[in-house]
Amino acid sequence: MNVEKRIITQDSDDEERSFEQTLRPQTFAQYIGQSELKRSLRVYIEAAKQREESLDHVLLFGPPGLGKTTLATVIANEMGVHLKTTSGPAIEKSGDLAALLNELEPGDILFIDEIHRLPKAVEEMLYSAMEDFYIDIVVGQGPTAHPVHFALPPFTLIGATTRAGLLDAPFRNRFGIVEHMNYYQTTELEQIVKRSAQIFQTKIQPEGAHEIALRSRGTPRIANRLLKRVRDFAQVLGKEEIDVASVDQALMALGVDSEGLDRTDRKILATMIDFYNGGPVGLNTLAANIGEETETVAEMCEPYLLQSGYLKRTARGRMVTQAAYQHLGRPYPQDETKP
Ligand SMILES: Nc1ncnc2c1ncn2[C@@H]1O[C@H](COP(=O)(O)OP(=O)(O)O)[C@@H](O)[C@H]1O
Ligand SMILES: [Mg+2]
Repeated sequence: MNVEKRIITQDSDDEERSFEQTLRPQTFAQYIGQSELKRSLRVYIEAAKQREESLDHVLLFGPPGLGKTTLATVIANEMGVHLKTTSGPAIEKSGDLAALLNELEPGDILFIDEIHRLPKAVEEMLYSAMEDFYIDIVVGQGPTAHPVHFALPPFTLIGATTRAGLLDAPFRNRFGIVEHMNYYQTTELEQIVKRSAQIFQTKIQPEGAHEIALRSRGTPRIANRLLKRVRDFAQVLGKEEIDVASVDQALMALGVDSEGLDRTDRKILATMIDFYNGGPVGLNTLAANIGEETETVAEMCEPYLLQSGYLKRTARGRMVTQAAYQHLGRPYPQDETKP
């Protein structure tokens, strides 16, 4: 995997995981932005603590890197309970889930990342666990097989997923708190960059932090990744502080443009313009054309291109906007067949 891909992809290797861990906020006070979400969560947490009950189950939607895992950590810390972390694909059988639930103490939080990827049987087992804190598991095999009823301590399930549509209604409805995470404002990303620079003991000029923030696609994880790369550049350039020039040089080398689009994003827009006359074009066709996985395009690229107004969704498929033509420096076709 090349350096450039690392900036946008979801995959984290061990080195990156420990890097993220160092930077991960532990409390609401350290968790920057998402102020409405924080405000309501604070109320729910306070109320649960006063009643000495477990917090309602929480479902978090949002593109990768916006702070879902971090928020689960923060909620556990604020509740003063343990956090157990797993992911949909890691739970293969009902028995795996039973083992996890069995380890929980009253009030603890079970965090399931990529919760849309849970096997159906496991999902269904969660229904009773979530609603009435018990599970029925079948013990033994063949004629001796019989269901055993296990009572569970009251616990909180926090699920995270990238898209709302990936979860069935019966499952979704069992979460009392359902929240969408939004892309971050530039000023919030600036604060995140400054905080991370401080943790790294790296000096950064306010303009440098601003420039990284502008080019981070509204995403804390990307802001931190860019900062890490920029820091290397500044060091090699012999700069005492990160300034706009070192940000520019580093990001140019990484193929990240003034709007935070990378080569893949620009390839998507250029392909739509050059081969499909601006669209409409289907997601699978597009992904095949640029040699990317459909999932990468759907989860990493498209949401931000839609959000920043370069793409729009129509009933017939995705289309580029005039802004995309302008950004790529292509003439915008003026004939009446275009929208
Ligand atoms: N609100 C925030 N304030 C500060 N840093 C954040 C915030 N949200 C995320 N981060 C940083 O971004 C990184 C990625 O966040 P993470 O919670 O792993 O995202 P997700 O689980 O949504 O993919 C974390 O390591 C953390 O350092
Ligand atoms: Mg995560």
